[in-house]
Amino acid sequence: MGFKTLGQADVAGKRVLVRADLNVPVKDGRVTDATRIARLAPTITDLVTRGAKVIVLSHFDRPKGKRVPEMSLKPIAPALAKVVGQDVAFADDCIGEAARKVVDALKPGQVALLENLRYHNGEEANDPAFVKELAALGDIYVNDAFSAAHRAHASTEGLAHALPAFAGKQMQAELEALTAALEQPKKPVMAIVGGSKISTKLDVLNHLVNKVDVLVIGGGMANTFLNAQGVDVGKSLCERDLAETARAIFAKAKSAGCEIFLPTDAVVADGLREGVASAVVDIKAVPADKMILDVGPATVKALKSKLETCKTLLWNGPLGAFEVKPFEKATFETAQHVAALTKAGKLVSVAGGGDTVAALNAAGVSDALTYVSTAGGAFLEWMEGKDLPGVKALG
Ligand code: 3PG
Repeated sequence: MGFKTLGQADVAGKRVLVRADLNVPVKDGRVTDATRIARLAPTITDLVTRGAKVIVLSHFDRPKGKRVPEMSLKPIAPALAKVVGQDVAFADDCIGEAARKVVDALKPGQVALLENLRYHNGEEANDPAFVKELAALGDIYVNDAFSAAHRAHASTEGLAHALPAFAGKQMQAELEALTAALEQPKKPVMAIVGGSKISTKLDVLNHLVNKVDVLVIGGGMANTFLNAQGVDVGKSLCERDLAETARAIFAKAKSAGCEIFLPTDAVVADGLREGVASAVVDIKAVPADKMILDVGPATVKALKSKLETCKTLLWNGPLGAFEVKPFEKATFETAQHVAALTKAGKLVSVAGGGDTVAALNAAGVSDALTYVSTAGGAFLEWMEGKDLPGVKALG
């Protein structure tokens, strides 16, 4: 790969600026999902062990250049300390006197966290003056934030040109997994793309039909494709104005030799409510007053057999409304099958995107896949085939 890895950096006694993504869910001042923080541990532990002075940089939410107290990174410092197993000093600004004081006080092997980068407009503007102020705090730059790599900001792009730049261990693992899934995959390759709307995933679908052998479309977006084929989807979520677009994707897939896999049966109900009465129907027999809320058991069975013929799976988006019972079944059963095939060494499985990770966690299998990305927007842009500025700058 075209970037330098952490192992190649001489870090002893050096000030190392680590771009992390600490944009984690917080409720009442407490971190509710620490996965992104936990994933930083290998990079920080490695740096600490090798006697670096570790300075963690991150954004949190979107304060748009202002000091918004609810968007402070201060409450994250204890969660970070827990993950790295030592105290983490906190500076209440990421540049200037406050930052310098904390950085100057660091001894080799110690860790500091600086306040939200996005309190300054220079971060999102990738302002060279702001890059310079950040760069003055370090000797080496390590980017361990793949999930922010789709942003060309000062700390994700600019800094990589201002200091010797290296990919952190999480960034490296992520890029290796993504390469194994789509750039140099073992074939045949299946992609499962779910979620509610095709309008948000048009670029993903158009890119994937040229890359994968089987494209499984699930979730609400399958309804748009079914409708485009003349199937009556009742009162299901459906983007009827995109029928022509869906037909163009079918045509593109056909000429690229990519099979599009759509549901043949569905679980329907009169609305999306916990425990609502539901029924399984053939996809050609969806009642006019019902909505499709999950793919049906015959579809799951066919999908599982198809998976057994594939060597690589890329998964983004649930198959049904998994957050509401009983519409979790198809997503969970498929996830468990993916986990079993992966465990048996028969499948390389890579999944990503907010809903997907939540679905895999709920199915209890997120540790059983080859790689689960915590990235949302960055994962989607990568699936669209776009260059990510934060990755490109490391090359
Ligand atoms: C994310 O949560 O996807 C990243 O932290 C990027 O956040 P952003 O969309 O506010 O740039």
